[in-house]
Amino acid sequence: MMKKTNEDGRMVWETNADFWDNYMGDESNAFHRDLVRPNTEMLLDPQSGDFVLDIACGNGNFSHRLVELGARVVAFDYSAKMIQNAKSRWKNSLRNIEFIVCDATDESQLMGLQREKPYDKAVSNMAIMDISSIHSLFKATYRLLSAEGLFVFTTHHPCFTHPEGRYLSSCVHQGEAITGQPVKQYYYHRPLQDILRIAFESGFVMDAFYEVPDTCAEFPIVITVRLRK
Ligand SMILES: C[S@@+](CC[C@H](N)C(=O)[O-])C[C@H]1O[C@@H](n2cnc3c(N)ncnc32)[C@H](O)[C@@H]1O
Repeated sequence: MMKKTNEDGRMVWETNADFWDNYMGDESNAFHRDLVRPNTEMLLDPQSGDFVLDIACGNGNFSHRLVELGARVVAFDYSAKMIQNAKSRWKNSLRNIEFIVCDATDESQLMGLQREKPYDKAVSNMAIMDISSIHSLFKATYRLLSAEGLFVFTTHHPCFTHPEGRYLSSCVHQGEAITGQPVKQYYYHRPLQDILRIAFESGFVMDAFYEVPDTCAEFPIVITVRLRK
């Protein structure tokens, strides 16, 4: 079933790619700027000269932000249209960002992202909950990083964003990231213990964890996690 929804999901993102690119623009939306970027940037601590992997990069606006901070970036997404839009939006920065079509569920495609040196850092903003299976992604990211490498990701807080009546069992459901997007996307709910178990079994340890609220300050909707080798 996951294989089928992975391909269906890719088609959804192909259909939504132009809408997503127009909506997110150069600076992304307020959700991203206010809830995602501050902790991600604090934990990733991008430095001039860093070599960074941006996982499921969407229209590449965070990849570009990393370049502004002095990094060299390889950024990938499984939607070819999303990558085409990213290349066109950031055409003046392609010396420092390599945009690639790659499926995060396919370990051999992921290992094809290996370059002449290992990555210092990997980042994934708001995509773990959109990826149909994350085992290969965590395993490959561990292998692609240097010995001191770190991996920062943000995703839905599964304890507070689960579908009605479900928490401990993983499941796939449909929803909207942006009101009015052309087609609903697939979300892959996993309990927190499953996300972290997959990270730990891949060899990572966790050294930072934040729960980020939206308007209701008592209930977080996003988690920011930093993993290290
Ligand atoms: C909510 S968007 C986030 C995009 C970007 N990281 C951001 O923060 O703006 C999720 C992205 O995950 C991508 N995605 C979902 N499943 C994927 C997979 N298996 N491999 C690569 N990208 C995937 C989608 O195409 C989409 O661009």
